[in-house]
Amino acid sequence: MAMEQVRITIFDTTLRDGEQSPGCSMNHQEKLRLAHQLDRLGVDVIEAGFPIASDGDFEAVQAIAAVIQRPIIAGLARACRPDIECAWEALKNAVRPRIHVFLATSDIHLQYKLRITREQCLAQARDAVALAKSFCEDVEFSPEDATRTDPEFLCQVLEAVVTAGATTLNIPDTVGYTVPAEFGELIATIRRRVKGIEKVTISAHCHNDLGLAVANSMAAIAAGARQVECTINGIGERAGNAALEEIVMAMRVRQDRFPYETGIAAEHLFPASQMLSEITGVPVQPNKAVTGRNAFAHEAGIHQDGVLKNPLTYEIMTPQSVGVPDSKLVLGKHSGRHALAIRCEQLGYQFDRRALDDIYRRFVRLADKIKHVEDHHLLELIRETHKPASSATPLFEPLATAVAAAAGAANQEPAKPFPMAAQTNAFGVPLPVGLEQHHDQEDYLWGV
Ligand code: KIV
Ligand code: ZN
Repeated sequence: MAMEQVRITIFDTTLRDGEQSPGCSMNHQEKLRLAHQLDRLGVDVIEAGFPIASDGDFEAVQAIAAVIQRPIIAGLARACRPDIECAWEALKNAVRPRIHVFLATSDIHLQYKLRITREQCLAQARDAVALAKSFCEDVEFSPEDATRTDPEFLCQVLEAVVTAGATTLNIPDTVGYTVPAEFGELIATIRRRVKGIEKVTISAHCHNDLGLAVANSMAAIAAGARQVECTINGIGERAGNAALEEIVMAMRVRQDRFPYETGIAAEHLFPASQMLSEITGVPVQPNKAVTGRNAFAHEAGIHQDGVLKNPLTYEIMTPQSVGVPDSKLVLGKHSGRHALAIRCEQLGYQFDRRALDDIYRRFVRLADKIKHVEDHHLLELIRETHKPASSATPLFEPLATAVAAAAGAANQEPAKPFPMAAQTNAFGVPLPVGLEQHHDQEDYLWGV
């Protein structure tokens, strides 16, 4: 009989921590649209916002709680009565509500930001969790800046909030300071030292200031964390949060190292990434793992040749598995004859070896000048080379003629450079212009 796999809870905070990043704020309708996509994607928890932060946040959390029924809907609250009551007011109609309470625990935050002692911090955390518990069965507690907190004190606070009724203990690397081995050890220490830990779920929440958010999250899972907090495209404060799509695919591709399952329907990853980018107007970095426009693009001739023979030569996951419509061969100066021949065929032309060599020489000269050779460039080149006496055989005469005609039209305009990331989506499709640009962030009253 097959062993049942351990399930990792995917807690998505795109609408809360992600939305806090510059340029990523969303309006009510946009939040609802994304929440539906997160539901389709199969996340277990949607952190819908920080209800006390603004009326807009409150209303968005309330609306999401009312219409999205499957996942848990979480709302963030500082460890104080007004925040917790407000969060509950926004969440109370959810099928599965969760109040997420946080309080900083590191000395640097206690001394300079909150101006309270460790004893006061411990009491405030315990009381806040008890208050949240009086409203809601499902309570998560986060000791903010946990990775710069004295581990001894951290364990004391965690034990107190477990006694007060917390069901999830989230360990934030708020400033993206930790490294994988250290973070794994911290999770192991918490598991060893905190009484009652076996009754609750340990969670990891990593920021990407050193580019380690995903690696740290994976280390936490390996050490026993069973929930990870992450965002689509890794958006979030400063350098961002751990990228959901990267964590999920790392687990899926490396089942030998991470034999866990998630509820994520991976074929919705790319659409979710595109939707977020379209809503915020913030493009996905081209070389972004899993969802960047180059993530499945092969330009080097040797790679193109290999991928065409068998995609497994250079692809560890298929583009289709994450919802990317198709692998994309980028034609540039490193491309080889094999890829060129395939693209010519896709455009309706088949060449024998001699004719292909001829086209290829011209193609390389052109690619040297313009970096990326687009289809219309190639068609122009073919038309120049393909004289009636040549050995090119149009495969589909009507298509070839039509495309060539289109290329002719394109000739009247100066050749366009390869689309810039800021203006296009992963497939060079222009993003809608005139999208409202969001710049100013709400002041979330951290530490007040
Ligand atoms: O990074 C952080 O510490 C947070 C907490 C509110 C969980 O986002
Ligand atoms: Zn955070």
